[in-house]
Amino acid sequence: MTIIHLTMDFIIPKKLIEVYSKSTHERALGYDEPLNLEMAEKKLNQYAQTQMYAGFKRLAICKIWKDDELVGYCLPRKIADSERRGFLIEDGLDWYRLGTIFILPEYRGQGIIETVVKQFTIKYPNLVWKNCALNIASATAAKKAGMVFSHNVYHSADNKSWSFENVDDCYFGYQVFKTPVKQGVDILINKPTHLL
Ligand SMILES: CC(C)(COP(=O)(O)OP(=O)(O)OC[C@H]1O[C@@H](n2cnc3c(N)ncnc32)[C@H](O)[C@@H]1OP(=O)(O)O)[C@@H](O)C(=O)NCCC(=O)NCCS
Repeated sequence: MTIIHLTMDFIIPKKLIEVYSKSTHERALGYDEPLNLEMAEKKLNQYAQTQMYAGFKRLAICKIWKDDELVGYCLPRKIADSERRGFLIEDGLDWYRLGTIFILPEYRGQGIIETVVKQFTIKYPNLVWKNCALNIASATAAKKAGMVFSHNVYHSADNKSWSFENVDDCYFGYQVFKTPVKQGVDILINKPTHLL
């Protein structure tokens, strides 16, 4: 039986450098230019030292393993207060993202994301998934992992503003999926007044 498991730390195994370099060739991840192995190692070391990636503090450079084979990575983080409106988060709970996520092409379509989400949400139950426009594999993976479509976000042509509506000068930016909020948590927080 194969086991998918995660390691949540900032350790950089040698294979991660190769996997990260490959991911920078992936158009869906939007890297400006692909990184060779040397550049990829430098970047990873920088991220490990600062624990910052794309301006946000990360929980880990999360390694995704299939048995003892490194098959992908993600860069999880907590959702910042400034982002809650865009993600339509109105409760008082902490929410998280897996962040940039990548599975090696030869391991795709095996439902690995479903297990990643299952394991990650044991400790971080409230998860948002941002799916860039037209990334069908990513949207499918989110749904298979039990996440529910929340809303679309549109950008203005100059990228300076965004909207929940497809107004004239906007183009489709991304979709947001979320784990359903656990009813039990809601009930505990919003204790009915007649029980007080
Ligand atoms: C998106 C991604 C993380 C999904 O990971 P995954 O472990 O393959 O997810 P799943 O196994 O649940 O497969 C999801 C869908 O991917 C598609 N898929 C299947 N095999 C595939 C392959 N070899 N290559 C590309 N997509 C494939 C299928 O539509 C699949 O759904 P289906 O099984 O119902 O047909 C992975 O495709 C990936 O790393 N893509 C490049 C980076 C990226 O887009 N990251 C997400 C940014 S928002």
